[in-house]
Formats: sequence, structure tokens, C-alpha cells
Amino acid sequence: MIQNCSGMHYGKVCIGIVIVLILLTIGGFAYLRFGPVPVAVSDRAFPFEKRIVRIAVRARINRQTQNLPFAASEDLFESGATIYQHQCSMCHGIPGHDAPLFKQMFPAPPQLWKKHGAKGVVGVSDDDPGFSYWVVSNGIRLSGMPSFSHTLSDKERWEVSLLVKNADKQMSPEVARILNSRVVY
Ligand code: HEC
Repeated sequence: MIQNCSGMHYGKVCIGIVIVLILLTIGGFAYLRFGPVPVAVSDRAFPFEKRIVRIAVRARINRQTQNLPFAASEDLFESGATIYQHQCSMCHGIPGHDAPLFKQMFPAPPQLWKKHGAKGVVGVSDDDPGFSYWVVSNGIRLSGMPSFSHTLSDKERWEVSLLVKNADKQMSPEVARILNSRVVY
């Protein structure tokens, strides 16, 4: 059993631990100050960087997810599409087109109308709208994802979240027209 540092035997172990801690602190600081820390968009990511951040973000959102406060309707999709076109498409793309900023950011903004992964899920259509609502409201720190809680109303944030939830469905011609209405790429 480990007692305290004053015992003959444990004294050396304790000094060893303290020295290792000091070296780790100096090494960590030297790496931040002089090392090749990946800070540019084109730098290689740390091993497991994406996965580690994702676990923390998902855990937080899952604790705070709310339920959609109204039922889906064509009107909601149309206003969601207008908001999406103005506030989101430059990063998250539109059906058939990647966003202009897609390759210019780290982490890259997921293309919300595109299939990804082995199961071919379209964007965030496999997430609850409450999950996307949290992301749209709060943003994701240290990524390019802004918080829209001061620029969009609560209803607008739900509308755009509902739209991206349904990105895997056939949209009405009007919704498709709105999404494609200002294509600059
Ligand atoms: C300036 C670029 C930018 C804008 C504008 C933007 N986003 Fe994002 N968004 C991002 C980035 C980058 C991420 C990825 C964050 C990460 O991986 O940690 C993201 C993540 C997301 C996610 C989570 C995706 C996932 O896989 O879990 C959702 C949902 C989302 N954005 C929706 C929207 C909606 C809706 C709008 C418009 C109201 C919007 N975003 C506007 C850059 C942007």
C-alpha cells in the first residue's frame, strides 16, 4: 500500500514521480511553444482528434436535446429553406453542390445534402431535429459553426433544423427552387 513520501522505500518513488511530472510539464510547454502543433487548416489532425471532440459534443447535446414543438408542414419547410439559403448554404451546400467553404475550413463543414459513411446517410437526416436545433442555437466552439441564438428566432431555428432533418426526402418544387435560388458556386 502506498503510504506517504517520508518512508525510506517510497521516498525515491515519490521523487521519481515529481521529476516525471516536472519534465512532462516542461515538455508540454516546449511542444506548444516550439513544436509543430497543427494550427493551420491544411495541417494534419492529431490522432483521434475528430473522434475525441465528437464524443464530447454529442454527450453534451444528448443531455440537453429538446423535442420539436410543432408538426412538420410544407410552410415550415419553405421558411426553413429560405433561412438555410441565406445563413447556412455557403458552408453546408445545397442539393447537388458542395459549399464554397467546404474545403477551406477545419473541421470541414459537413455537406448536409450529401450521402456519407458506409450507410449512405444524407447529411444529418439520421439525427433528431432537437440535436440540430441545439447546434444551430449554440454553435460549436473552436469550429466554424456559429451560434444563431441572437440572429434567428426560436421558431426559425426549429424550421431550419426540421429542413436538414428531412434532407433525405424528396422536397417540393418550391423548396427546391428556394434552395437553388442564389447559387453562386
Ligand atoms: C461559417 C460556416 C458555417 C455556417 C454559416 C453554418 N455552419 Fe453549421 N457547421 C459548420 C462547421 C465547420 C461544422 C462542423 C463542426 C464540427 O465538426 O465540430 C458545422 C456543424 C453543423 C451541424 C452538426 C453536424 C453534425 O454532423 O453533427 C449542423 C446540424 C449544422 N452545422 C447546421 C447548420 C445550420 C442549419 C446553419 C444555418 C442556420 C449552419 N450550420 C451554418 C459551419 C457552418
